[in-house]
Amino acid sequence: MADRLKGKVALVTGIGAGIGQGVALRFAAEGATVIGCDIDPASAQRTVDAAAEAGTPIESVHPVDLTNRADVRRWVAVARERHGLAHVLVNAAAIPPHMAPVDEMDFDTQWRPTIAGEVDLVFHACQEAWPLLQAAQGASVINFASVNASRGSRHLSMLAHCAGKGAVLSMTKQLAVEGGPDGIRANTIAPGLVRTHATALAGLPGGPAGEIVKARTLVGRLGVPDDIAWCAVYLASDEATWVTGANFAVDGGVMAA
Ligand SMILES: NC(=O)c1ccc[n+]([C@@H]2O[C@H](COP(=O)([O-])OP(=O)(O)OC[C@H]3O[C@@H](n4cnc5c(N)ncnc54)[C@H](O)[C@@H]3O)[C@@H](O)[C@H]2O)c1
Repeated sequence: MADRLKGKVALVTGIGAGIGQGVALRFAAEGATVIGCDIDPASAQRTVDAAAEAGTPIESVHPVDLTNRADVRRWVAVARERHGLAHVLVNAAAIPPHMAPVDEMDFDTQWRPTIAGEVDLVFHACQEAWPLLQAAQGASVINFASVNASRGSRHLSMLAHCAGKGAVLSMTKQLAVEGGPDGIRANTIAPGLVRTHATALAGLPGGPAGEIVKARTLVGRLGVPDDIAWCAVYLASDEATWVTGANFAVDGGVMAA
């Protein structure tokens, strides 16, 4: 076990799969006390079991629907009661976005659920956790934008997803402004295409759109959750105390060319 995050209490959302799972396991391996959550209890429990098997246990509250304020409060209360503070909040959870072009997207069943599942849940977690982050006197919020916070896609109809991730990108800058006086840093990671549950569901890795993205990377491969988790370790650690209001492209170089 390494100790880049030793002594830090970290709230991590979406630990059941993909990037959130990778972050939870990597944070625990780096010495953090992880309090995770997920809407899917079975997958969250699998992550808890994997962490225990690795000898770096994590805690989890599940099921927690982060679009439901009472659920968010119940999860954050665990950190408050046990530790009285949180040094890190990682908002990795998001729903798989609804895909439809502008002239076909249904407001109630596609647009609104995507915005709620990508943006509202970040707001709820930040607001509920804010007093615990203030109490840490040196905390880090890590939110997930995307390459598609800054560009559209020729291959996927991701109008609502672009809106959601653009919102996370910009709101995180304002969180950095508001958190500054309390020592709260806030940054986004903007992943490229990462092999996760969500992208597998969408048929991306190995599919035509995934192959196009892979060809655009400068390193010749798609990402895996640990590629992203290492960036989150840095942002959560004391190595990054001068880093706030920034956006980190972790995308195999896709945005560079
Ligand atoms: N995978 C990629 O290529 C990629 C690219 C850019 C950005 N991102 C972003 O990274 C983050 C993680 O993506 P991923 O691909 O690992 O997703 P994923 O679907 O593989 O995992 C997301 C996890 O969040 C949980 N979750 C979903 N809605 C929830 C809710 N309402 N309450 C609690 N838990 C909930 C799911 O159950 C799941 O375990 C997301 O914000 C996503 O938008 C991913």
